[in-house]
Amino acid sequence: DKQSLSMVTCTAPVNIAVIKYWGKRDEDLILPMNSSLSLTLHQDQLKTTTTVACSRNFQQDRIWLNGKEEDISNPRLQSCLQESILWRLNDFDCNGTCTSMTSCSPNDDDDDVKIWFVLVYTLSQLFGVESEQLSAVARQGSGSACRSLYGGFVQWKLGEQLDGKDSLAEQVESESYWPELRVLTLVVSAEQKSVGSTSGMHTSVETSQLLKYRADVVVPSRMEEMIRVIRERDFPAFGELTMKDSNQFHAICLDTYPPIFYLNNMSHRIISLVHRYNQYYGETRVAYTFDAGPNAVIYTLQDHLSEFVQVVRHFFPPEVSGEEFFKGLPVCSADLS
Ligand code: PMV
Repeated sequence: DKQSLSMVTCTAPVNIAVIKYWGKRDEDLILPMNSSLSLTLHQDQLKTTTTVACSRNFQQDRIWLNGKEEDISNPRLQSCLQESILWRLNDFDCNGTCTSMTSCSPNDDDDDVKIWFVLVYTLSQLFGVESEQLSAVARQGSGSACRSLYGGFVQWKLGEQLDGKDSLAEQVESESYWPELRVLTLVVSAEQKSVGSTSGMHTSVETSQLLKYRADVVVPSRMEEMIRVIRERDFPAFGELTMKDSNQFHAICLDTYPPIFYLNNMSHRIISLVHRYNQYYGETRVAYTFDAGPNAVIYTLQDHLSEFVQVVRHFFPPEVSGEEFFKGLPVCSADLS
């Protein structure tokens, strides 16, 4: 009927990689140079919610982000909207016009990832698009976003085909596989990243010799090992591999010319603290990982969480840090679910 209004609401979680994706082999199709693996976090503070409504009565596409109307001529928004046009044309209830409202958490490096992903995902749900098609669509907003399609431990396979049809996200283990695992976010700075991942990756691919070595030699065996230690729930091995992979990613940033600095002094102090803590116990109880920014994500087990939080509070009291260390996001634990 002409008055009908279709509406769907979806939320998208963040994912944090333990084997990092860095470098595209095809910038148009968003195909990676190496496989990657992440954990999907279901933290209330870190999710994005989008509602899409579609009706014959709407005059034009309109999008609001956190209550503010966006300019839909933005290229990334356009690419997401383009993706959905075919779905819309196949849909009898709609003449191709949608409105969407998105709200997302502040203080997150990956806001852009989640916003575009969740918009396309919500559109796909509205029009009943099959999930196999979604990795390619989700990648258009931001490559790593395709890993948020699943909960738990998720790999994004490099794939071999030129058209990228086999470069897909795939669940390795479900969200309930390792219930003792905990995630702690340490917000060092709420500022926007200095070099975005798209341009950073581009420069790394052009200039870093280390990147090629990493993609060809290091990551293939590291992916296998990471999947094995996750399946064995071997935290010391998981933590060590996670830290080594984060460090190699930031080494590549330094090997990029001109170099990219995502970590700051506070990040370096957190790295030292984690190593000192682990050395004190003679085993890896806590692991850090850093993406394209200075904020630390800490993986640990439930048994060690409260002590490590105390240690962090001791060495980084808010008045000493002088930065937004404890602001915005509380230092909190979050279940992986
Ligand atoms: O998907 P992008 O373009 O936001 O790049 C993500 C890059 C890292 O976060 C540094 C690594 C990763 O695999 O998530």
